[in-house]
Amino acid sequence: MKMINAQLRHRSGLYTLCAEQGRFTAIEPQHGELAPEALALDAGGQLVIPPLVEPHIHLDAALTAGEPAWNMSGTLFEGIERWAERKATLSHEDIKLRAHATLDMLRDHGIQHVRTHVDVTDPSLTALGALLEVRDEARDRIDLQIVAFPQEGIDSFPQGRALMEEAMARGADVVGGIPHYEHTREQGISALTFLMDLAERTGALVDVHCDETDDPHSRFLEVLAEQTRARGMGARVTASHTVAMGSYDNAYCAKLFRLLQKAGLNFVSCPTESIHLQGRFDTFPKRRGVTRVAELDRAGLNVCFAQDSIKDPWYPLGNGNLLRVLDAGLHICHMMGFEDLRRCLDFVTDHSAKVMQLGDQYGLEVGRPANLVVLDAESDYEALRRQAKARLSVRHGEVILRREPERLIVPQAART
Ligand code: FE2
Repeated sequence: MKMINAQLRHRSGLYTLCAEQGRFTAIEPQHGELAPEALALDAGGQLVIPPLVEPHIHLDAALTAGEPAWNMSGTLFEGIERWAERKATLSHEDIKLRAHATLDMLRDHGIQHVRTHVDVTDPSLTALGALLEVRDEARDRIDLQIVAFPQEGIDSFPQGRALMEEAMARGADVVGGIPHYEHTREQGISALTFLMDLAERTGALVDVHCDETDDPHSRFLEVLAEQTRARGMGARVTASHTVAMGSYDNAYCAKLFRLLQKAGLNFVSCPTESIHLQGRFDTFPKRRGVTRVAELDRAGLNVCFAQDSIKDPWYPLGNGNLLRVLDAGLHICHMMGFEDLRRCLDFVTDHSAKVMQLGDQYGLEVGRPANLVVLDAESDYEALRRQAKARLSVRHGEVILRREPERLIVPQAART
């Protein structure tokens, strides 16, 4: 593969990228714009970035909203009720069809790396079995990491620990958890200790749904962070949601952030999902129910944005467009100062890649897999502002998506 006239992030001038056998062999500055070449892809001066990364989604629930009934209140609790009805009808083929359709949407938006949570509080582990097959079948378009996610708890669900162990033995990549949903605080702590032990034993990564509640007394993040620090697991551990942090007082946060920095764990915020589901017990003033993304970032911690849901009982919208989530997140988290806008794609690319621990399998560097996306914009700022589409997606040196530019026709009489 050869691509000419590429604009790279935060660099002036245009670049040529070459790849052989699926890996970058050269990334060289050009002297001016090159004329189109028959066998080269032409980025046309547009922004070329590593693929977008979706670090937190639930493929087993995607595209089920309205089946059999819609969530009329829009609340988390009615979502759980509607999901219980749908969960009873899940089948292997049903899950695979919806997961592939959702991955196609993500591919269409320039995403090539995805971490999905899969509900393993099911004695048959039906969804896990389906998604293990999808992980293999999707390799030509998406790298998929699977989190063994105990939606109904570990210590408060029958055989919860055995199901987690079986899910890891069957091939899940990441150990999940949901300590704030366990019946008691003690169970939340014992579940966290169990899942961290399991990750250490199996060498797996960790991604915990942590404090996904407006309750300011939900403080499992400090437990997860301290266990991460004490075990030296650092960036192998991720805390997802942590929305209670949006309700913690500043005095507690000042102490907490010291621990978070010592632990060095990652954070994922799902701003569209959280602004929709949280704050539901408030009248006014109404909390935003989103974690402290800007403050985590300023403190040097790794934090990124994710979609969480696409058309499921908890969240009826979503179409795979991660730039929409980025747009919402930056609004909600007061992150539209120009410095944030100038580097905003960090929150859906490099930071998310660190969550997934992609290491040298990610990034525009010689020797790494030749995966890239051409966005229809010249900079992070313009990509966000114009909600730029992926014009081209290249994976292991092969084009997997090409989008023709939109063409508008304005009649003479309507022109300025
Ligand atoms: Fe989630």
